[in-house]
Amino acid sequence: MWKLAIDLGSSMTKIYRADTSSGIVLVEPSCVAVAGEEKEIRAIGKDAKNLIGKTAECTSIVYPVYEGEIVSLRLASAMLKEFLSRVGVKSSALKRAQILFSMPCGASERTQENYRLLAEECGLKKVYFVETPYLTAVASGGAFSESDPVFCLDIGGGVTNIAVVSTDGIIAGVSMNIGGNNMDANIQNKVARVNGLRIGALTAERLKNEIGSLSPAVRGTMVAEGSSVESCRPSAVSVQASDLTDCIRVYADKILEYASMVLKKLPAEVAATVNRNGAYLSGGVMKIPYLAQYIGARLEMRYQVSEEPQYTAVLGGGAIVRDKDMLSAFAKS
Ligand SMILES: Nc1ncnc2c1ncn2[C@@H]1O[C@H](COP(=O)(O)OP(=O)(O)OP(=O)(O)O)[C@@H](O)[C@H]1O
Ligand SMILES: [Mg+2]
Repeated sequence: MWKLAIDLGSSMTKIYRADTSSGIVLVEPSCVAVAGEEKEIRAIGKDAKNLIGKTAECTSIVYPVYEGEIVSLRLASAMLKEFLSRVGVKSSALKRAQILFSMPCGASERTQENYRLLAEECGLKKVYFVETPYLTAVASGGAFSESDPVFCLDIGGGVTNIAVVSTDGIIAGVSMNIGGNNMDANIQNKVARVNGLRIGALTAERLKNEIGSLSPAVRGTMVAEGSSVESCRPSAVSVQASDLTDCIRVYADKILEYASMVLKKLPAEVAATVNRNGAYLSGGVMKIPYLAQYIGARLEMRYQVSEEPQYTAVLGGGAIVRDKDMLSAFAKS
C-alpha cells in the first residue's frame, strides 16, 4: 500500500514516499499552464514553469494553491492527479493509498474542506491533514515532546508559518501570507526603479536565489535581462547584490514582528524551554545567506537551520505517515 506525504507548497510540490525507502520522489513547481477562454490545460509542473514569460498571450500560468489556499479546485486536482501519476501511483491504487497533506498553521474549516474536496476529486480515500508546524517540529530531530516544545519558523514561497508546538498541540502559532514571492515582487520593482529594467518574476526569483543575501558585507552582481523601462526594447543590466538586500529585509522584519508576537504569548515555563532550545528555521527562503543569522540575532535566540530547508515539511510528513502513533497523534482526517 502506498504511503505518501504531500506538501502542496505555493511554489513547489514535494512528495515523499514512506512505504518504501524511496524518500522524496517528486519536486515540481506547483503550476499549470492554461490556454484560451476555457482555460484548457497545456502543461503541468516543470513543463508549465518552463513556459513562463515565453508563451503567446492566450496561455497563462496558474498556481492553483496560492498562499496555502486551494484557489482552483479543477486545476489543483488536475495537477495533483498528474503528479501522482508521475510518481507511479496507478488509478486503481489511489483508493487504498494513505496520503498525508500538510496544511498551514491554523487552517480554517473552509481550507480544510477544500483539501478534502481535492482529495475526493483525485480519488483518494485515506487522507490525513497535519498542520505544518508539527511536520517541521518532527523533522527538526531535536527534543520534541509534551514537555519539550519546539519553536518553528518556516518561510516558503507564499506562506510563513511560525509556531511553538509540543506533542500536545500548537501552544501559539500563526500563518501569514508572506514569503519569497513578496521578495521577488519587491526585487522586480527595485530593478525597474534603480536599473531602469523591467524584469519577469522568474528573473527576479533567480536574482534573489543566486545573489540575494543579508550579509553586512554583501558583494557580487548578476546580469538580468528584460525590457528597458524607457525604450521598452530588450535590454540587459548588471544588478548589484547590495541593491537586493532591502527587498529581502523588509519581509524578514515583518516576519520577525509576528515571531515576537508568538513568543510573547507563551506561558513562562514554555518561554524558558523555547529560550533554551532555540528556534528551528526552515522553508526554501531560509537558503538566503545570513537570513538565519539575522533572525537569530534579532530574536536574541539560538537557532538551527534545517539541512535542506525547502524539504523540511515533507520530510516531517514522511516520518509521520510512516508511524501509526504519530499519525493518530497529529493528523486530522
Ligand atoms: N537558493 C535559494 N535562495 C533563496 N531562496 C530560495 C532558494 N531556493 C529556493 N528559494 C525560494 O524558496 C521559496 C520556496 O520555498 P518552499 O519550497 O519552502 O515553498 P513552498 O513550500 O512551495 O511554499 P509555501 O510553504 O509558502 O506554501 C521560493 O520563494 C524560492 O524562490
Ligand atoms: Mg512550504
